[in-house]
Amino acid sequence: MGTLLYAMKNFISVHDVDNIDALVQKAISYKADPLKDRLLGADKRIGLLFLNPSMRTRLSTQIAARNLGMEAIVFNMDKDGWKLEFEEGVVMDGTSVEHIKDAAPIMGAYFDILCIRTFPTLKNKEEDYNEVLVNQLIKYSGIPIVSLESATLHPLQSFTDIITIKEVFKEPRKPRIALTWAPHIKPIPQCVANSFAQWVNAWGEADFVITHPEGYELDTQFTNGATIEHDQRKALQEADFVYVKNWSAFGDYGKVLTHDAQWMLTEEHLRATNNAKVMHCLPVRRNVELSDEVLDGASSLVNLQGANRVWAAQAVLSEILNGSN
Ligand code: CP
Repeated sequence: MGTLLYAMKNFISVHDVDNIDALVQKAISYKADPLKDRLLGADKRIGLLFLNPSMRTRLSTQIAARNLGMEAIVFNMDKDGWKLEFEEGVVMDGTSVEHIKDAAPIMGAYFDILCIRTFPTLKNKEEDYNEVLVNQLIKYSGIPIVSLESATLHPLQSFTDIITIKEVFKEPRKPRIALTWAPHIKPIPQCVANSFAQWVNAWGEADFVITHPEGYELDTQFTNGATIEHDQRKALQEADFVYVKNWSAFGDYGKVLTHDAQWMLTEEHLRATNNAKVMHCLPVRRNVELSDEVLDGASSLVNLQGANRVWAAQAVLSEILNGSN
């Protein structure tokens, strides 16, 4: 059995974590010895529900569950499930076949932990930022819920990113971290940027700057505590880590305001940094968000981030299992 740090009920945001550093240590201990708690989840079942595509999150969470002795079942709800309704009191005479109120308790009976990936509409800001689906699953399933990326946040990715920064940065001072917007060909959720900002701010162990073109301001509930700098070159100066990510506008919700290629991160952008390590959650549009030379160069941490997804998921599932025992 693992050491009980606290009883984690759900994992939806950083607010579900009492002690980030302790959870990082737990993840690093799993990296050193993946099977040390291989009986913790014996005879327990985890459901992974996908309404949207995934590679890293799907596989890393399955591997993490297996390392803890759990049986993992993946259900592609978008392709194989009934079309769900989320609105309370609605007359279901349209295309939706099943209400979440009816589906969630059944899944709660089948599983011990339920994980869900659901992207935002990028059309209805209120619905997206109220996290309607995740909150209804919590309300009606009766079992712990883990976000595999929701409408507004990607906590397993951000936890991985903190693990990776702590693993790499060995200086006896706070790292300087720059989160930079990058171009993309289509509207992308704000989740990864929101979540990274939320976790870095909650961690409190970094000098943190966010840089983006005007109009790409993120929701201040996540960014408060960070410096906002619209001059990308200035923001990257002396950075130890540059986190690259596209997001669509939060204010003019879901819109693409610019495709300015000057914001694509290249080797030239890194010259003013403190030999910065470069991060991206993947998947990445090569030579749109980041240049080949950066992604394939020594400064890139993207493969380490991807690999660390297993240990982040394993630490989280372990905490939930400990809390449920
Ligand atoms: N970073 C990430 O969540 O990757 P996937 O979309 O492939 O799961």
